[in-house]
Amino acid sequence: MSRLQADHLYKVFGRRPDEAVKKLADGADRDELRADGTTAAVIDASFVVEPGQIFVVMGLSGSGKSTLLRMLNGLLEPTAGRVLFDGKDLTALSHRDLRTVRSTKISMVFQHFALFPHRSVLENAAYGLEVQGVPRAEREARAAEALDLCGLAGWEKSWPDELSGGMQQRVGLARALATDADLLLMDESFSALDPLIRRDMQDQLLELQKRLKKTIVFITHDLNEAMRLGDRIAVMRDGRIVQLGTAEDILIRPANDYVASFIQDVDRSRVLTAASVMTTPEHPAPDSCGCETVGPDTLVADLCAVSARVPHPVAVKDADGAVLGVVPQSRLIGFIGDEQRPPVACATGTEVISHA
Ligand SMILES: Nc1ncnc2c1ncn2[C@@H]1O[C@H](COP(=O)(O)OP(=O)(O)O)[C@@H](O)[C@H]1O
Ligand SMILES: [Mg+2]
Repeated sequence: MSRLQADHLYKVFGRRPDEAVKKLADGADRDELRADGTTAAVIDASFVVEPGQIFVVMGLSGSGKSTLLRMLNGLLEPTAGRVLFDGKDLTALSHRDLRTVRSTKISMVFQHFALFPHRSVLENAAYGLEVQGVPRAEREARAAEALDLCGLAGWEKSWPDELSGGMQQRVGLARALATDADLLLMDESFSALDPLIRRDMQDQLLELQKRLKKTIVFITHDLNEAMRLGDRIAVMRDGRIVQLGTAEDILIRPANDYVASFIQDVDRSRVLTAASVMTTPEHPAPDSCGCETVGPDTLVADLCAVSARVPHPVAVKDADGAVLGVVPQSRLIGFIGDEQRPPVACATGTEVISHA
């Protein structure tokens, strides 16, 4: 069973929302409704998040990301559609049941995490458990463990203003982790941080995720961040999801010009893998030359280094040593440069050079 599912979700602010949903379902866009004083924040969003996945929602400011997230945790009621959490329809729960689910199963981490200035780091991290009524000794032990996971061991007795911005954000993350909630909803959680600290936090989240295997919905306006973190990515534009797929899907097959314009700034060599750039060998690969080979998940950035050392196309092998494909250097360069057309021949002077 999927952990979380959005099923044709709509959120319309303003007058006559139901009428607006009908128009949107028939293909109307945001601008057509604006004239009526209606904002279509989220339009027909459907997706599935599997347990243990990081699902990223990426889009420019105003595209509807936060509204979508607030429907996922039941803070906002959808105008139409359903949210299924562990198969249960959140939209059909009573207020009381919804509050219980929200306080025990779902944790939110925001961009500007509001820490209580007059509480210690430990008390701040324990806050979610305090709200749940967990006794002091237990909540402090769990909060200390969560702080440790987030690299803040030793800071328990400090005050928030003694911590840097990045560390304060880690306290926010620790607070979310301390509650044992299996679903983490993170709204631009790292967006306010300096680039280096931000990268650090991304690494930390990926590291934590390997151990904790939470289900995470992560919102960002930064495609590089989306591609580093996301097992799957939904790209939003003007309230609609315009593409849903893995980082590689989006990079290799952008759904439209809008998505294509985003991927220009992405470091392709750190997203694409050997499996996505390899080709079938023309001749059965010489298996025994003893040269370096790579696995299918090797990043193109690392593949480049191998390719520079190996005198022929690099073989891609699975864990059992079977050859899955090969990567000629020309192909590698083509993919990094976003050039995936077939090779051409050109004439320079009297010489004809094949670009194969
Ligand atoms: N409570 C609200 N009332 C009216 N319009 C809203 C409300 N919340 C969000 N919106 C509008 O919905 C659209 C999507 O907003 P939001 O979900 O915050 O986008 P994002 O998080 O991607 O920046 C925006 O046009 C915003 O102005
Ligand atoms: Mg937002």
